[in-house]
Amino acid sequence: MDDNTIKKGITELWNNAYTNYDNCYAHGMKSEGEKLEWLRLLDRLIETKPSEVLDVGAGTGFVSLLLAEQGHNCKGVDLSENMLSVARAKAEKAGYTNVSFAIADAEDTKEQSNYYDVVINRHLVWTLPHPEKAIRDWKRVLKPGGKLIIMEGNWHYSRPSDKLQVFLGRCLLSIQEKRNAFSHNGDYDADLKKSLPMLKSKNAKRLSNMVEDAGFAVSVVALKDVDRAEKKAMPMAYRLLNPHKRIAVIGIKEN
Ligand SMILES: C[S@@+](CC[C@H](N)C(=O)[O-])C[C@H]1O[C@@H](n2cnc3c(N)ncnc32)[C@H](O)[C@@H]1O
Repeated sequence: MDDNTIKKGITELWNNAYTNYDNCYAHGMKSEGEKLEWLRLLDRLIETKPSEVLDVGAGTGFVSLLLAEQGHNCKGVDLSENMLSVARAKAEKAGYTNVSFAIADAEDTKEQSNYYDVVINRHLVWTLPHPEKAIRDWKRVLKPGGKLIIMEGNWHYSRPSDKLQVFLGRCLLSIQEKRNAFSHNGDYDADLKKSLPMLKSKNAKRLSNMVEDAGFAVSVVALKDVDRAEKKAMPMAYRLLNPHKRIAVIGIKEN
């Protein structure tokens, strides 16, 4: 599959998913407890305030809006105009003037070199066809000493215990919500999935190696507190459906 077709497919999917994204567990913010943990995490990861931050694959603004609340100057970029329209509406409602959104490809942002203190993303890398290329671009736009923060989960459940748990979750959800929770509506098609090298990658190691190979000093943090707070707000069926564990790969641009 060529790059244009891949990116078109990705854009199309998210342009359709935008209405329901924030309602989904593990995507939108579901409780004050969860919000508090995300704010705590970002506060810990981004010490200097205000920082100039680029949120790549910003979607409906989950991370960008938390950063705006914390006083950072944030630009969120995404391929999907519809996802960004939700982010813009939320920023406007909150009255934030320190956050903006624009269409851009995370693998080639076209942002100014050596400009940002922080480049951040959440739940993006799994859907990139060329994650190494993206990481090189993020390094380019960071100032020397700047920080890359990649927050990702193991969304592909390959452990038998996780598979069983998800199966039980789908059964329970089908009964409770009287719908087929085994349907794959709203998913990428099989050909597109083959073009995404991190889709089935469950290891933080592979991602941290990529960041290290791009010339960053790397550390990895398990995001246990946000995972715990998120699961606390989920009804049982959704808790079963979401055995993911999140990590943040953090890279400091050395030169
Ligand atoms: C799972 S959502 C995550 C959204 C947001 N970061 C969050 O944490 O809620 C993935 C987002 O990445 C965007 N995306 C996928 N590929 C992209 C690319 N190459 N460049 C920019 N955005 C991309 C999609 O449009 C979608 O909004």
